[in-house]
Amino acid sequence: MARIPKELVDQIIQTADIVEVVGDFVQLKRKGQNLWANCPFHNEKSPSFSVTPAKGFFKCFGCGKSGDAVRFIMEIEGSSYPEALKYLARKYGITVQEEEKTPQQQLEQNERDSQFIVSDFAKNHFHRLLQNSEEGMSIGYGYLKERGLNLSTIQTFELGYSLDAWDDLMKAAETAGYDKKYLEKTGLTVIRTDDQGADTGRRYDRFRGRVMFPIHNIGGRVVGFGARTLKRDDKMAKYLNSPESEIYHKSDVLYGLFQARQAIRTEEVCYLVEGYLDVLSLYQGGIKNVVASSGTSLTEGQIRLIKRYSDNVTVLYDGDAAGIKASLRGTDLLLEGGLNVRVVLFPDGDDPDSYIRKVGDQRFTEYIETKSQDFISFKTTLVAREASGDPVKKAEAIRDVLHSIAKVPDAIKRQVFLQQTATVFGIDEQVLITEYNKVARKPAPRPGVVSNGQQPGQPAAPRGMTHEEEIQALMYGADPSELQSAGINNTAEDFGEFDTVPDVLQTCEREVLRLMVLYAPREVEPEISVAAYFMSQLDDAPFKTPLFAEMWEACRQELLAGRFPEVRTLVQTEREEIRSLITDLATERYEISPNWRTKEIYVFNEVDLMGQACENALRRLNKCNVQREIIACRDALAKPMEWDEMVMIMRRKMELETIDKELAKQLGTIIPRGN
Ligand code: CTP
Ligand code: MN
Repeated sequence: MARIPKELVDQIIQTADIVEVVGDFVQLKRKGQNLWANCPFHNEKSPSFSVTPAKGFFKCFGCGKSGDAVRFIMEIEGSSYPEALKYLARKYGITVQEEEKTPQQQLEQNERDSQFIVSDFAKNHFHRLLQNSEEGMSIGYGYLKERGLNLSTIQTFELGYSLDAWDDLMKAAETAGYDKKYLEKTGLTVIRTDDQGADTGRRYDRFRGRVMFPIHNIGGRVVGFGARTLKRDDKMAKYLNSPESEIYHKSDVLYGLFQARQAIRTEEVCYLVEGYLDVLSLYQGGIKNVVASSGTSLTEGQIRLIKRYSDNVTVLYDGDAAGIKASLRGTDLLLEGGLNVRVVLFPDGDDPDSYIRKVGDQRFTEYIETKSQDFISFKTTLVAREASGDPVKKAEAIRDVLHSIAKVPDAIKRQVFLQQTATVFGIDEQVLITEYNKVARKPAPRPGVVSNGQQPGQPAAPRGMTHEEEIQALMYGADPSELQSAGINNTAEDFGEFDTVPDVLQTCEREVLRLMVLYAPREVEPEISVAAYFMSQLDDAPFKTPLFAEMWEACRQELLAGRFPEVRTLVQTEREEIRSLITDLATERYEISPNWRTKEIYVFNEVDLMGQACENALRRLNKCNVQREIIACRDALAKPMEWDEMVMIMRRKMELETIDKELAKQLGTIIPRGN
C-alpha cells in the first residue's frame, strides 16, 4: 500500500479531537474531567466507556478496549491503520497525498479494505452512469426525478444506476485493474452455475438496469447496495439487495444513518421508516433524522445503533391495517432495547414518502409532531378498540399489551403504562397488576431478539425481587426488603429529614469549602491533592449559597493560575464578607459542627483521614442536593401535567431515591423513623 508520509500522519493525529471523533459514534456525557458513554464495543446499560480529552484517549472499563482516535476508528469501523488515518483526514479536510499506486498495490491491503475499495469503485461507477450515460440519464435519472428527488439528494445519498447489461460493472472494474475476487466477495457479481449447481467459472453482474441505493456504514463507507428495478415485471423482485459479506452485516446497518446521525443527535429523536424512498423524501423535505430498516424486521444490532445517537425513536407506519399489525411485534423490540418509542400512523394507503409528497414539508412536519403518540398507548387503544364488546378478545388484548409492557426495562415507565392500560380497558388496576405478574413471568408468545441478556418477556427487575415486590417497591418508592432491614416500614414521605434541608445544604457546602481552603495541597491519596480531588468531582458551579460560590470561584482562580488556594492569599481581598468567612473557616477547624452532632453523622479525625473526610463531605453535599431535587420532583408531580412529562419526572425521582439510599449507606447514616 502506498504510504502516507510521516509528517502527514503526525498532522492527522494532532488535528483529530478525540471528543469529536468518538462523538460521531456515541452520545458522550461530561462527568468531571472525562466524558462517558455506553460502550460501543460491548453491550451495557450503564456507561463504563470514558474519553479523556486531555490525554486524547478512550478507555472502556467494561471490555478493556482503549487507545487514541486512530485506534477508535480502527475498532469501530474494523479498518486498518492507514484506512483509519484516511477517515480522520477526510473528517478534518486534510488532503492525503499518497504516492502513486497501482490498483494491484491497493489490493495488497487487507481483505476488508479491498472490499471497501471495490464497493466504493462500484458506487462511483453507478453514480457516474446515472448522470453521464444515455441510459442512466433517461431511465434512471428520469425515474428519480419523477419520484420528486432533486440533484442535491441524489448527490448526498450517492444514488446511481446500473446499465441493463450482463457485464458492465465487471468490465469497468477489470479495466481499472481491480481483482474480480472482490467483486464476487461483495456480491456485486454472481457465479454462473451449471445445471448441477457447479461453478462454471463464469460471472455476471448482479445489478442490471436498476436504480442503485448505496448503503453506507456509520463511517460513511459503502458496504452494499439496494437496487430497484424500473421494469413492470411481476416476476422480478422490486428490490434486489447485496448479500451479506465481510463488510456488510445487514443486522448492523441502517439505511440513511450516516446521513442522519448528526440530525438525530440534535433533534433528539430518530424517525424510523421502512423504505429507501421514504428516507430520501423526508431528508429532502428537511426531516434529516430519518433511517430505514429496509423492509426487514429490526435487529438488536440496529437498535443499539440508534441508541448511540438517541434514546427516542418514532416509528412512521404505513397507513394500512395489515402493515400495522405486522409492525407491532418489531416495535416491541425497540421497547426491549430501552428506547422511548412513539408512533405515527399515516392515512390509509399512504406511506411517509407518498404523504410528504401529497401535503408538502410543512404540513408533514406538523403532522408527525401532532399525531405522534406513545407506542404502548397506541397499541392499547388499537387492540382495545378491536376487542370491544367481546370479553374473550378483550382478555387476549390485555395480555398482548401486558407482554409489551413487560418488555420495557424501566420500572417506573412500566408502572405508568399499567395505570394507563387499566384506564383504557376500564378494569381495576390491582386486577391488572395481578395479571401482569402472571404474564411477565411467562416467556412472550414469540420471543424476538433479546437485548441486554434479558430473558424474553421478563422485565428488568432488580435481582432477587419478585414482581409483586417490585410493584410494591414502585408504589412505596423503595425496595421493601431494604426498608425492612433498616427497621423502617413507612414510606419515603414519612422521613422527617427534609424540613431542615436548606440549613443542612449550607452546612454541607461550607464543609467542602473549608476542607478546600485549609487543606488544598494535602493528599487524599498518593499523588492526588484535596484541591485536585474536589475539582475533579464537582462541577463548575457546585454551590448554591452565593457567598460560598464566590469563595469557591476565588479558589478555582488560584488553581487555574497554578497555585493552591491558601488562607493568607485568599484573605487579601476587598470583600469584607469573604475575609470574615475565611477567618471563620480557619478558626473552626477542630470544632464539631452542631448540625452533625444532632444528625449523628459520623465525626472524623480529619488529620489522619484526609481522604475519607473529603469523600464524606462530598457525599453529604451530594445527598443534600439529591434530596432537594427529590422534593422538587415531588412538588412537580403534585401538579397536573402531560403524561410524558410525568413519566420523566417519576423516573428521575426514582433514580434520585436510589442515589440517596446509596449515599446514605455509604455514609452509614440511615436515620430511623422518628428521629
Ligand atoms: N424491500 C426489499 N425487497 C423487496 C421489497 C422491499 O428489500 N422485494 C425493502 C426495501 O428496502 C424497500 C422497503 O423494503 O425500500 C420497503 O418496501 P416498499 O414499501 O415495497 O418499497 P418503497 O421503498 O416504498 O419503494 P417504492 O415506493 O419505489 O415502491
Ligand atoms: Mn413507497
